[in-house]
Amino acid sequence: MSLVVEGLSKNYSKNLVALNTISFSAKKGECIGIVGESGSGKSTLGKVLVGLENYKEGTITYNGAPVVPTKRSRLREYRKNVQMIFQDSSSSLNPKLPVWESVLEPLDNFKECSPAFLEGQNLSRKETAEQLLIMVGLDKELAGRYPEELSGGQKQRVSIARALSIEPSLLICDEPTASLDVTVQVQILNLLKDFQKKMDMTILFISHDIRAVTFLCEQIIVLKNGTIQDQFGINELYHKSRHPYTKALIEAASIQ
Ligand SMILES: Nc1ncnc2c1ncn2[C@@H]1O[C@H](COP(=O)(O)OP(=O)(O)OP(=O)(O)O)[C@@H](O)[C@H]1O
Ligand SMILES: [Mg+2]
Repeated sequence: MSLVVEGLSKNYSKNLVALNTISFSAKKGECIGIVGESGSGKSTLGKVLVGLENYKEGTITYNGAPVVPTKRSRLREYRKNVQMIFQDSSSSLNPKLPVWESVLEPLDNFKECSPAFLEGQNLSRKETAEQLLIMVGLDKELAGRYPEELSGGQKQRVSIARALSIEPSLLICDEPTASLDVTVQVQILNLLKDFQKKMDMTILFISHDIRAVTFLCEQIIVLKNGTIQDQFGINELYHKSRHPYTKALIEAASIQ
């Protein structure tokens, strides 16, 4: 897997530059953190990368081929390999569907996928969903419940199970722990870390919390007003060459 983003720009309106010539690349198995204050363009970047938002300029190249929003067959192939977990698990799960049906959405969309966890097994659809719930540490009894009957942490695990079901090579996590209390945040981060290692997945981890980012990622991109301010390896976090804005983020998180 390789993802190369070059000169990506997006405006929501004439005066609102949400992304300004963003360039970076990600290789197989890498975990890249994207941090920045509220409104810096993090979610916009995630949505553009997953094909949910259009962009004005620049290129996104996945495994050597450009991802063009208007080329539907190419986009489908890309989406089969790229999944996103959203900040607000409540709105990303359909309240009218029992959990197990939501979990199966990606596998239903991409029937050609044959993930390793299903190999050699002859499971019904519901059993497949239960297996996925067990994988993310949930009781399979939750399969028949509706989202409103789950806690925030449980919903986020369901979203993770759904995203991992087709074994994406690239997983974009947009503030996956922001709405959770600290102990559950750590559990979810550990879960993501385990899967990242097991599946050798590439993760783009979006967060306003630089501590969460340093826990998971080797590379960090700092965004402000849609512009990359700083970009560095985790070993250089405390280096004197860090941008003042990065230093301020570190200080605010009091991890010095
Ligand atoms: N659909 C939209 N229409 C118009 N403007 C938008 C839209 N979505 C986001 N914006 C604007 O684009 C800018 C970047 O927003 P974005 O949601 O990407 O920020 P963010 O870094 O994810 O913030 P947060 O940490 O609060 O989630 C903000 O100024 C926001 O108001
Ligand atoms: Mg956001």
